[in-house]
Amino acid sequence: MAQLKFNEETAAELEAVYSRPDILRRRALVHAALGAQPGERVLDAGCGPGFYVAETLERVGPDGSVAGVDASEAMLGVAAKRCEGHDNVSFHEGDVTALPVGDADFDRALSVQVLEYVEDIPAALSELLRVLRPGGRVLIWDVDWATVSWHSRDPARMERFLAAWDEHLADPSLPRTLAARMREAGFEDVELEGHAFATTDVTDQTYAGALIPLMVDYVGSAEAEAWAAEQRELERRGESYFACIQFCFTGTRPR
Ligand SMILES: C[S@@+](CC[C@H](N)C(=O)[O-])C[C@H]1O[C@@H](n2cnc3c(N)ncnc32)[C@H](O)[C@@H]1O
Repeated sequence: MAQLKFNEETAAELEAVYSRPDILRRRALVHAALGAQPGERVLDAGCGPGFYVAETLERVGPDGSVAGVDASEAMLGVAAKRCEGHDNVSFHEGDVTALPVGDADFDRALSVQVLEYVEDIPAALSELLRVLRPGGRVLIWDVDWATVSWHSRDPARMERFLAAWDEHLADPSLPRTLAARMREAGFEDVELEGHAFATTDVTDQTYAGALIPLMVDYVGSAEAEAWAAEQRELERRGESYFACIQFCFTGTRPR
């Protein structure tokens, strides 16, 4: 099956998903690990609807700047709207494997849930290294989708559904190999932190619950509809459960 299309419809759906409390928690973890300081230049590679760009603008202040790159014009439109009124922000359409920005232009770079969609990881990592100044810090965040533990009274159907959803990614278990590949690309001080996201609330107020319509649209089968109906039923009965581990990698460009 093809990768997920980041068109206008997906942009609107993701914008709604990304306002949920567990994604707010994820953004707080990302900002703490990235540690952007006033006056710094920050790149968001695969900025999507621009939440990190807007929040990073507050952190770097008027003396700093933020650039957002994304392959999707629709996502960039949403992101640019979110950052209206700032003159220290720029957006560029482009691929993370060929970033349309200069060498050593940034103090920090982040890429949250983007590399799992990318086929050529060495190219993306070497680009992230190139655009950082010596001593600059990168943050890469991805999910290991094999860690998803999701309750259903029909576990075989759950397994088939999750396998079909995995096809929307280039590598659903990228975190397993990423640290070694970051070191190979030339990053030093590579560190990994895993964060469990677990809930018994699979409603549209949580990441998992809000993703359900997007997942069903993508998988697009009668079985997917039946799977979603069961999730709604479990929620009504107070029997919902979802957990996964998301991984935050950081590294530094050697001086
Ligand atoms: C799941 S969204 C994450 C958005 C944002 N980083 C966030 O966490 O709010 C993935 C984003 O990566 C972008 N993307 C996927 N593959 C890309 C690539 N090869 N180069 C640049 N952007 C890419 C998509 O267009 C989409 O906006």
